[in-house]
Amino acid sequence: MIELEIIDLKKYFPVQKSFLERLLAREKQFIKAVDGISFKMFSRQVFSLVGESGCGKTTTGRLIVRLEKPDAGKIVFEGSDITFADEKQLRPLRRKIQIIFQDPYASLNPRMRIGEIIAEPLIVHSIADKKEAKEEALKMLENVGLTPPHMFYRLFPHQLSGGQRQRVAIARAMILKPKFIVADEPVSMIDVSLRAAILKLLMKFKTLYNLSILFITHDLAVARLISDTIAVMYLGKIVEIAPTEELIDNPLHPYTKALLSSVPSLIRRKREKLVLKGEIANPINPPSGCRLHPRCPYAESICSREEPKLIFYGNNHYVACHFPLVNRRY
Ligand SMILES: Nc1ncnc2c1ncn2[C@@H]1O[C@H](COP(=O)(O)OP(=O)(O)OP(=O)(O)O)[C@@H](O)[C@H]1O
Ligand code: SF4
Ligand SMILES: [Mg+2]
Repeated sequence: MIELEIIDLKKYFPVQKSFLERLLAREKQFIKAVDGISFKMFSRQVFSLVGESGCGKTTTGRLIVRLEKPDAGKIVFEGSDITFADEKQLRPLRRKIQIIFQDPYASLNPRMRIGEIIAEPLIVHSIADKKEAKEEALKMLENVGLTPPHMFYRLFPHQLSGGQRQRVAIARAMILKPKFIVADEPVSMIDVSLRAAILKLLMKFKTLYNLSILFITHDLAVARLISDTIAVMYLGKIVEIAPTEELIDNPLHPYTKALLSSVPSLIRRKREKLVLKGEIANPINPPSGCRLHPRCPYAESICSREEPKLIFYGNNHYVACHFPLVNRRY
């Protein structure tokens, strides 16, 4: 069953300028953070969005949970169009869709006790009174491995490690028994040794609540561990979508191939490495045609003129490239 459908979604942020720059500038400039992306997510799937810093992953996640307002396109959740739903219409949805943020140090209110942070959503949504919410929070503390729960309930965020704080963030998101989670780089800011345990915890809740997870990461190796499907983003666009092993074994887009070449555990012996030229371009004025063309070793003249569309290549594999790496020895 399709849980979430994104159709041609766009978000442009106006560039903040000084008074003098505004006076001299002819027209307003925009950062094209998300520039026309489409994908479908099936229930109980883990769908990963992967790409370099600044490619638009977080903005996509924030648009889906409607912490940002889209500029264009459609967001359809469980068959309902929520693209421009107002706060009142979004209220029942806020229970079903939760987000776990990247930074466990910034995402928890420093003045609240851990137990109150976890219990708060139950009170905000009028699901429980204070006493019931406390009992639920204590159970949840146990569930996320913060034991003894009575001790952790009374602590403040600054008394916890990064890994423990991310457990609190997961507990807060899960207390409403959501259907859909956006997990935005939930392990990138915590110690490497603790990452596997946090991912395991997330997967435990996936099974427990039949969750669908949009998992955001810059790390293909992490995405591979937990995803059913991976979508690769570059400069506000999705360039490739495929089932996880299909994408790792048979990347069709040069950018995906380059990402894979930079992860030692995903390098295949038979595959040549691909290193892209230069740096990621400016999202205010992205290159014409295919946004990768100034960096791509396979670029031909059409690449700078025409934007490639995301095309189906079999095996649930989609790629946006005029010259996908089919049958290439790479
Ligand atoms: N509120 C905002 N106002 C202006 N520009 C923004 C805003 N949020 C994001 N951007 C810009 O939009 C682009 C995409 O940002 P986004 O945070 O979505 O990327 P990301 O893929 O999550 O990057 P990272 O891996 O660094 O988290 C970037 O150029 C960023 O600077
Ligand atoms: S469309 Fe052209 S420039 Fe873009 S990735 Fe494909 S070959 Fe490279
Ligand atoms: Mg981000």
